[in-house]
Amino acid sequence: MTPAELERYLEDRRVLVDEALERHLPSANDSPKEIHEAVRYSVFAGGKRLRPILVLAAAEAAGGQVKQALAAAAAVEMIHTYSLIHDDLPAMDDDDFRRGRPTCHKVYGEAMAILAGDALLTQAFILLSAPPALGGSDPDARLRVVHEIAMAAGSLGMVGGQVVDMLHEDREIDLPTLQYLHAHKTGALIRGCLRVGGILASAGSDELDALTRYGERIGLAFQIVDDILDVEGSLEALGKSAGSDLRKKKATFPALLGIEESRRWAHRLVSEAQQSLVIFGDRGTALGAIADFVVMRRR
Ligand code: IPE
Ligand code: IPE
Ligand code: MG
Ligand code: MG
Ligand code: MG
Repeated sequence: MTPAELERYLEDRRVLVDEALERHLPSANDSPKEIHEAVRYSVFAGGKRLRPILVLAAAEAAGGQVKQALAAAAAVEMIHTYSLIHDDLPAMDDDDFRRGRPTCHKVYGEAMAILAGDALLTQAFILLSAPPALGGSDPDARLRVVHEIAMAAGSLGMVGGQVVDMLHEDREIDLPTLQYLHAHKTGALIRGCLRVGGILASAGSDELDALTRYGERIGLAFQIVDDILDVEGSLEALGKSAGSDLRKKKATFPALLGIEESRRWAHRLVSEAQQSLVIFGDRGTALGAIADFVVMRRR
């Protein structure tokens, strides 16, 4: 894929994901309006939609179809957006900007932001468990998807990573612990996206293993690049405040290894991720291009 083709591909998928989110979230007029406004404010602020796009791309790599995976893709984006709303709270990273606008708690207050996150997390499972949502997938696959996403999001996954992140503010960290932190706070959900797409497309166990390896590597690379962008980016480019990690004395790859070594890590992980795609032949092209996007991105 050329960069222009990838741009087009990502844009087309973003539109599909946004339509699914629109369908599956309560409307801004549903009562109580205050929470649904806050939820929609954060969801429709213009995220990259990388995670849901990975669900769709994994399903296609494994020979499935986009429409089989759209509801699960939307559910994952709800969980991701919840994690951002809570991550920005004063009790956590205390950030004022997200996705190019003031953070949820800045506009709606802390109580409503906590509740908006709670509502999004729950809405994801409402959607995943709703009878028509996961298309024609068999009950066993549906249950596996719910379990996969719950495990990725919970205290053995993303939440566990956030815990270790908080425990290491302004504290020494060693490389294995930092890898754990990043692989969990960000890698777990990304890995889950790949597996969910594969499960919905009835991937065989070799294909599922390949998707898992790819997901683990780009998941870690994604957070390393996020750390680098926090050093090198700007509010205008990122839509969130740069320098936030330094201010909060966060454990990051650039802080531990320096920028150049961090970049080498990200590139190495991405090329390892791409190597695991050989099993898919041409069907893995989009995932290969998305892996490049993970390291080349500017936001
Ligand atoms: C930001 O994720 C939080 C991290 C896990 C690094 P994204 O960079 O995917 O944020 P959006 O969804 O595009 O806003
Ligand atoms: C956030 O990591 C990870 C989750 C939200 C689970 P960061 O704290 O680095 O994300 P940003 O930089 O605020 O987007
Ligand atoms: Mg954080
Ligand atoms: Mg943060
Ligand atoms: Mg960050």
